[in-house]
Amino acid sequence: MKFSLRLGNNNLSGKYSMEARATVTPRQLTKHEIRKEKSHSRLGLVSSNDDSTAASAELHDVAVIGLGYVGLPLCLAFAKSGANVLGVDVDSTKANKIIAGESYIKHIPSGDIAAAVEAKKLTATDDFSKLMNAEAILICVPTPLTVNRTPDLSYVESTVRAIAPHLREGQLVVLESTTYPGTTDEVVKPILEKGSGLIAGEDFYLAYSPEREDPGNPKSNFSDCPKVVGGFSRRCLEKACSLYKRIVKNVVPVSDCKIAEATKLMENIFRSINIALVNELKVIYAQMGIDVWEVIRAASTKPYGYMPFYPGPGLGGHCIPIDPFYLTWKALEYGHHTRLIELAGEINTSMPDYVITRITDALNDASKPVRGSRVLVLGVAYKANVDDDRESPSYKIIESLENRGALVSYNDPHVPVIREGRSNGAVAGRASVPITTDYDAIVLCTDHESYGSIDFMKMDVPLVDCRNACQRRPRNYYAA
Ligand SMILES: NC(=O)c1ccc[n+]([C@@H]2O[C@H](COP(=O)([O-])OP(=O)(O)OC[C@H]3O[C@@H](n4cnc5c(N)ncnc54)[C@H](O)[C@@H]3O)[C@@H](O)[C@H]2O)c1
Repeated sequence: MKFSLRLGNNNLSGKYSMEARATVTPRQLTKHEIRKEKSHSRLGLVSSNDDSTAASAELHDVAVIGLGYVGLPLCLAFAKSGANVLGVDVDSTKANKIIAGESYIKHIPSGDIAAAVEAKKLTATDDFSKLMNAEAILICVPTPLTVNRTPDLSYVESTVRAIAPHLREGQLVVLESTTYPGTTDEVVKPILEKGSGLIAGEDFYLAYSPEREDPGNPKSNFSDCPKVVGGFSRRCLEKACSLYKRIVKNVVPVSDCKIAEATKLMENIFRSINIALVNELKVIYAQMGIDVWEVIRAASTKPYGYMPFYPGPGLGGHCIPIDPFYLTWKALEYGHHTRLIELAGEINTSMPDYVITRITDALNDASKPVRGSRVLVLGVAYKANVDDDRESPSYKIIESLENRGALVSYNDPHVPVIREGRSNGAVAGRASVPITTDYDAIVLCTDHESYGSIDFMKMDVPLVDCRNACQRRPRNYYAA
């Protein structure tokens, strides 16, 4: 008896077929093959003697789960390559916006989404059953930390549990979320296998490929950024590499999923540690009367062995403040303390306190206490020209000032209203206010391009600048 996958008029059996599926004789079925047969009938794989027809369905080359800062650009890159893309998110408002051709991420133009939707290359849903019609499933859901700063894999786990009942033979599943080495093999694989009755590397392909999205950087071009890929097996690696070759010029295959997972962590740990270094130097040099920004500019002229990192009010975003601690947690399993990572984390998380000290200095020089002073914070996005305010150090600064009795407002052209997030309960719902001189101090936390046109010289309000953003410095200027 022969089996083939019938989805309306489409026949998928050739495209992603694995050798084992071609012919199955029921009398000779092994335990593993019985599981496969069950899966075939569940997924609409019907006997060629069976006249019942499977439901017709739209087929997709790629399904991307998690339509956030990583998932949405990934959808657009595949759609641009000519692939038929399905976006999937538990948040149905995102799916609806995509279908309507509307962007919900500031730096991604609605026109790009509308063009992909009109060309019938992109659609979106919150219905996980549609995943069975996709050849590849890419997972881009959040990987935050718990309140105790341990990895929170609940989003990955619930996504994988939701995929499993719809997984069919020959599909490729790739985890893109940043995580500790071992997640794909130890967490994703068992859930998929248990929930589907299929075997990784035999019945479906499994891989890990970290994202290198640089939101809001106009110089970053998706296809120019090489993509690291690790597979559960050689065939899994080949499948994943050929998929990503559609959207990037350079695919970097590595030995296994763990290497790919560790690569992403190394990149982000490298950044966290180097940012901690310049943050520490900033404080020391300031006391020596040395401008750290001028030092960095001068050091950057060295053509080898140095690359610039810049100080700031603290770390923000979904990556650098979080990812290094995924390794910290996993290293404990091997009896190791990641001392350098933790020290860097300590320095970086102390930066908002340094900013508070500088605000206090500014107010003190004007004979004002923090309590009752009006402070305007410029920028709550964690970096310039984006609307991403996750883990923003601005919120720590606002909270700390308010705990001391200050009256704090914020301005951010990219964040008109603060959305509720995982760690901003105290400020959620507040709205951006116009920039005026009615304040006792202004704190520039994010160097949005639009702030470049403000003439602080004319404002005559003490300015605490965390980004070296002010070229014409007012009389009462405080670097922080
Ligand atoms: N933001 C970046 O610049 C960046 C860069 C590289 C890697 N990463 C990594 O990529 C991953 C995603 O980050 P992001 O910034 O895109 O996050 P995000 O919060 O912007 O987007 C995640 C999306 O996943 C959705 N989601 C949550 N649970 C889901 C579920 N169970 N099923 C389906 N959808 C679900 C959310 O609704 C949201 O739309 C994280 O692991 C992050 O560390 C992020």
